[in-house]
Amino acid sequence: MARAMVLMWACYYVLLATKCVDCLGVNWGTQASTPLDPKYIVQMLKDNKIKKVKLFDSDHWTVGHFAGTGIEVMLGIPNINLKEFSNDFDAVEDYIKENVSDHLRDHGGVNIKYIAVGNEPFLKAYKGAFEKTVFPALKNVQKALNKAGLGNKIKATIPQNADVYDSGTQGPSAGNFRPEIRDIMIKISKFLDQNRCPFIVNIYPFLSLYENEDFPIEFAFFEGGGKGVQDQNIQYTNMLDANLDTLSYSLKKAGVHNVKIIVGEIGWPTNGHKQANVKMAGKFYNGLLKKLATEKGTPLNPGYIEVYLFSLTDENKKSIEPGFFERHWGIFRYDGQPKFPIDFSGDGGEKMPVGAKDVKYLSHQWCVLNDDMRNLSRVNSHLDYACSLGDCTSLSYGSTCNKLSERKNVSYAFNMYFQMSQQSVEACDFNGAAKITKKNYSTRECLFPVELMSGGRRNVVGVTFVVCLFSLLVLGKLV
Ligand SMILES: *[C@@H]1O[C@H](CO)[C@@H](O)[C@H](O)[C@H]1NC(C)=O
Ligand SMILES: *[C@@H]1O[C@H](CO)[C@@H](O)[C@H](O)[C@H]1NC(C)=O
Ligand SMILES: *[C@@H]1O[C@H](CO)[C@@H](O)[C@H](O)[C@H]1NC(C)=O
Ligand SMILES: *[C@@H]1O[C@H](CO)[C@@H](O)[C@H](O)[C@H]1NC(C)=O
Repeated sequence: MARAMVLMWACYYVLLATKCVDCLGVNWGTQASTPLDPKYIVQMLKDNKIKKVKLFDSDHWTVGHFAGTGIEVMLGIPNINLKEFSNDFDAVEDYIKENVSDHLRDHGGVNIKYIAVGNEPFLKAYKGAFEKTVFPALKNVQKALNKAGLGNKIKATIPQNADVYDSGTQGPSAGNFRPEIRDIMIKISKFLDQNRCPFIVNIYPFLSLYENEDFPIEFAFFEGGGKGVQDQNIQYTNMLDANLDTLSYSLKKAGVHNVKIIVGEIGWPTNGHKQANVKMAGKFYNGLLKKLATEKGTPLNPGYIEVYLFSLTDENKKSIEPGFFERHWGIFRYDGQPKFPIDFSGDGGEKMPVGAKDVKYLSHQWCVLNDDMRNLSRVNSHLDYACSLGDCTSLSYGSTCNKLSERKNVSYAFNMYFQMSQQSVEACDFNGAAKITKKNYSTRECLFPVELMSGGRRNVVGVTFVVCLFSLLVLGKLV
């Protein structure tokens, strides 16, 4: 009897141990006027017990910060490099040496697990620009990894947009790759399968809702309630399940049965559109994280789903071609401060996540419209200019700063331009229409931000410079 109990407890602990508490990952992009210093990012991930990060490049300085942390890192090779990497194996080997192998040694090493070759290269918007190069580049990267003796530990893959497959107006079982890229997608999928590399797909219920007013809103979330999709005898109640199973059916039809599927990006923006706000983002994430914690998976693929949330912080320099929301995907603000309660463990707690600590800002000052500037039609061109270079997405319809008065509107734009120009005095002139103030113009809803002090990168250059100068002086004395 006692032995049975012990056995039961042992099993229980084994089950607990295999519970996927370490599965959750997060994306971190740096298309911001001043990205947070990676040292804060590392600390935020630790504080929030997030063990995986997905990057969009392989910046040496950034990646170096993850050495010795154990945090699993996915590096990215931007689409612009695909052409070179498709036909120049030496360049790929150089890349693997400098950006991968070298990191495995220093300070306990960086836990590099995946290399994302390109990002959503078959996006319809790219009109086929990367169709010829992405697969050869993928093969070269894995080949170079193998050659360096790293192929078993580090895998190359390609994050795809979920638009590489669809099921028309039917359920997931009708899923297949888009006809014009089907051949290449089948080849890539088979390669991934044979090399035990994962298939990575980005899934965005928000975008489905954004693109289609008639999209059933409950289907974007995880609480059921909507009509859902009936497919044979399976009832799908959320888009994530339906989408992942559509991919599984597409892979099956391609004769690919064992490839591991990872969700490379999934999230909800908090600004820049009427459906993008902290309330809906909170609802989405907490539903998603609870679902992930159950490890039920999808009807076709029970088990845990490996996911990278999109994204850790806002990026005020991203292209707004997809929409104004594009700069507001952060779970945290630009400065690493939390926006809404979120429980990464999936227990559904209403706690704020742990933000970045002791962040350094530039001076607490703002650039605003001069009080004596009464005729606003005279500042129109300045407003346009400020918004073309600064980030005015929070002023748009449905956003946090849309309710500002006309004057404050102008001030907001001036301030964004000023802050994103590192508070340079010349950036707060606008022909005399602007002034610098110490008064915080933020309202409860609308934040007039203060730019971050840029991180150690410049200091690294500075320190190197000082050290060089010093050595030169000493050498000079000696000679
Ligand atoms: C290493 O990665 C960085 C950033 O992604 C890139 O600029 C650099 O060219 C890479 N090095 C090589 C040798 O490819
Ligand atoms: C405001 O400025 C515009 C453009 O310079 C000018 O046409 C208009 O007459 C001015 N309005 C007033 C009330 O001064
Ligand atoms: C403020 O600026 C935004 C963006 O330029 C514009 O859509 C909005 O109508 C403006 N609001 C007012 C009160 O002028
Ligand atoms: C300005 O005010 C906002 C809203 O009260 C606050 O969140 C922000 O931290 C303030 N900024 C500074 C630099 O004090």
